[in-house]
Amino acid sequence: MSDDVAKAVAGARAATLVEDGMLLGLGTGTTVEHFLVALAARHLDVAGVPTSRATAARCAELGIRLLDPADVDRLDLVVDGADELTRDLVLTKGGGGALLREKVVATMGQRFVVIATVDKLVPRLGDTFAVPVEVVPFALHPVRRELEAEGLEVTVRPGDGGPLLTDNGNVILDVRLAGGLADPERTDVWLTMLPGVVTSGVFVDLASEALLGRSDGSVEVLSRPGR
Ligand code: 5RP
Repeated sequence: MSDDVAKAVAGARAATLVEDGMLLGLGTGTTVEHFLVALAARHLDVAGVPTSRATAARCAELGIRLLDPADVDRLDLVVDGADELTRDLVLTKGGGGALLREKVVATMGQRFVVIATVDKLVPRLGDTFAVPVEVVPFALHPVRRELEAEGLEVTVRPGDGGPLLTDNGNVILDVRLAGGLADPERTDVWLTMLPGVVTSGVFVDLASEALLGRSDGSVEVLSRPGR
């Protein structure tokens, strides 16, 4: 219940950043749900690129106009959740399996605001959350073997009667690195270079701000100079 208050205040605060006419990136997850509801309640003339089919469906219910990435060069504001983040605004994402579209949309953003509960703030990424890695199905076993040969603990994310398939028809490996990510950028580059890997859930140099909700209704704001 208190977690829901913390999510709701972060989502509601993000909705206050939206101005009439803005083109948005619309993230995925339970915190984003609060943002979408608060956004819809403002009845602004905005449109957004959804990061998942689930978000697209929710926007359709709420009357938020959708855009295709083909039809827009830059987004004024991207709002999305995170699974873990550090104070320098490096994140892990993909708990909801939408990491690829989330990374594409984050890259399109002029401003990327992360909304989360304050307990997602960690001293080091990978402490509590395994890093999701999206892989084309053909490469699932070779990539898995490669990661395990490096001593990493790998789990194929389960779906209904087999591996979970993402909105892009790919599978997800959840990769646990003992001791967490000492160098997130290096980990992201290394993972992404493996043939068959489409992207990793490590988001470096993308977020400009974070709005972190607390169960007492307050919001902690983190921002990255120069973004
Ligand atoms: C989905 C994501 C979500 O943004 C992340 O998992 C946070 O979700 P929630 O707000 O439900 O905790 O990355 O792929």
